[in-house]
Amino acid sequence: MTQASPEGRTAYIITGPTSGIGLSTALELAKDGTVVLVGRDQAKLGQVRESIERAGGHAVPVVCDLSDLASVRRAAAEIIALRLPLAGLVNNAGIMELHATKNAQGWDATFATDHLGPFALTEALVPHLPDDANVVFVCSGVEDPERKPAVVAGFRGGRYISAEASARGEWKPGGSTHPGLDAYATSKQCNLATVLAFARETPRLRFNAVEPGFSPATGLSRDANVILRALGKYVLSPLAPFIKYWSTPARAGKVVANVLLNKSGGTGVYYDEEGRPMLGSTLARDPEFQDRVVAETRALLSTVSALPSPGGGAVLAWLGGLGCGILAACSGT
Ligand SMILES: NC(=O)c1ccc[n+]([C@@H]2O[C@H](COP(=O)([O-])OP(=O)(O)OC[C@H]3O[C@@H](n4cnc5c(N)ncnc54)[C@H](OP(=O)(O)O)[C@@H]3O)[C@@H](O)[C@H]2O)c1
Repeated sequence: MTQASPEGRTAYIITGPTSGIGLSTALELAKDGTVVLVGRDQAKLGQVRESIERAGGHAVPVVCDLSDLASVRRAAAEIIALRLPLAGLVNNAGIMELHATKNAQGWDATFATDHLGPFALTEALVPHLPDDANVVFVCSGVEDPERKPAVVAGFRGGRYISAEASARGEWKPGGSTHPGLDAYATSKQCNLATVLAFARETPRLRFNAVEPGFSPATGLSRDANVILRALGKYVLSPLAPFIKYWSTPARAGKVVANVLLNKSGGTGVYYDEEGRPMLGSTLARDPEFQDRVVAETRALLSTVSALPSPGGGAVLAWLGGLGCGILAACSGT
């Protein structure tokens, strides 16, 4: 599936390059080096690779379902085995569900895809990244309960209780009328907390975050009804370039690529949709909270890594421990 990089070309890894912001970021990065395309659908990855190579670039597809820890670990091993001169990683892939679902392991699908998978991928790759490599997480301002446009849209900010509770799909009371939005805001708050904690923890690398702006026409709200999706695509999308906090996938892709490629940029910086530094929520900026998110996520992931194989009896025991069995029965909510 993979092929060798042209000798010596700097390489960038990006997750979710098959649609929306990730696709435009991948096309931007391809102007600068080899792009490792990390996605769950081999056929779609092939199409992106073809467009990059038609334009004279070079890309290497790696199949990875970020909601599945075993798949993430396989993908990380595959990327390391490529022995490319890596210079950066963009954790872009994400989902936002109005109606929360579970992944195959019984975890909240959004928390698994948007936080646990990218966290595990990053931890696996960090020891293999050279000094000064840049790791960028595509975050979202909806993590901040004080961000007015997000509140108007129905978000109530991150609702973190603990990493285990999030995996069970449990959120701090007082959240959105759609638990899927609490899952998304909490996952994005965990992304930002992770960036800020990793930046302090590993100063030889750079860790930064981007709020890419609201792009109504991406595939993010795929479970929204057909009317809402048409509204996003045909009515809201043309207005996006003229509205504060809004953007387009093309513009957002440029901002994310610039943040990744900016060699003079620092670490632990959160950039807005124009590429200017911005502040996250009060909670996300609290180092104690950041460290708790990282420690609890590591503890949760290490419990999983102790298991022999997904689907085995130990997995069921672990899920039982988390109470996921009970929640799975209620997953239609
Ligand atoms: N759009 C916005 O308004 C907005 C605002 C703020 C932040 N963001 C963030 O921007 C990022 C990109 O979102 P987008 O709006 O461009 O959405 P999108 O068009 O739906 O793109 C999402 C990408 O993530 C991939 N993906 C989803 N689930 C995956 C999984 N389990 N394993 C591997 N890849 C998976 C998708 O792959 P497939 O093609 O295979 O589905 C796709 O390539 C997300 O992190 C999102 O939270 C978006």
